[in-house]
Amino acid sequence: MKINILRSGGDTPQSYDVDFENVTLLTILNHIKTKIDPTLTYSHGCRSGVCGSCAVRVNGREQLMCEYKPSNEDMVEPIRYATVLRDLVVDSSSIEKFNRSASAWGEGSKEGNISEEEMARIQTQSDCILCTSCVSACPVYAVNPDFIGPFSLTRVWRYVSDPRETSSDAKIAAVQANGIWDCTLCGECVPVCPQNIAPVQDIRMLRSKSGMMGYQDPAMASMFGGGLDFGGVSF
Ligand code: SF4
Ligand code: SF4
Ligand code: FES
Repeated sequence: MKINILRSGGDTPQSYDVDFENVTLLTILNHIKTKIDPTLTYSHGCRSGVCGSCAVRVNGREQLMCEYKPSNEDMVEPIRYATVLRDLVVDSSSIEKFNRSASAWGEGSKEGNISEEEMARIQTQSDCILCTSCVSACPVYAVNPDFIGPFSLTRVWRYVSDPRETSSDAKIAAVQANGIWDCTLCGECVPVCPQNIAPVQDIRMLRSKSGMMGYQDPAMASMFGGGLDFGGVSF
């Protein structure tokens, strides 16, 4: 099998011939590094789809190296919209940047228990492993590098939906600029998520909640000269 890897410092991919079948891309890269080319650089941790550190693009689609099983002539590249440090390793500081912009964490907890039903509603979003595959797949970053983006907005919805959270209103306020209204609702972030999270659905929910709180889409507001007035709630 031939594996092509786009390495830093070159426009053409480097090809490696390996004699493997039905193994993960990470297993193949470990073989290349230990037996063929020790200079090849990539990132990994848990080897079991938990740590989120091994995301790359294969044939133009985001994959976890520890889960994806390659085919002959696959093309492997670093994920998009992150600075390449070397080969397949990228700077992951955008995780902190976007989560900070959105206050995408729990800040205050009310007394009381959460029901099983309420917990089930936020479980999926809590499973995010911060692999940033959804950011790499999102077309908005080509025009707005400050877009808060899919994983952070999903986390915001997780906390806004948590009945114990005391800062829900502030979190909704934090995602108005460079956030929910910048999303095109294209859905590209959904099929690439290894945790079966659908950020676009959570963004729709954040938009709906924002509308109920009196916020409005800035594009619609400018189109209608300041917003649509339906007698108390603006959309
Ligand atoms: S649905 Fe929104 S967040 Fe998801 S990829 Fe499209 S523009 Fe990006
Ligand atoms: S939402 Fe999914 S694709 Fe995005 S960072 Fe979390 S686990 Fe990765
Ligand atoms: S090595 Fe941890 S998710 Fe792949």
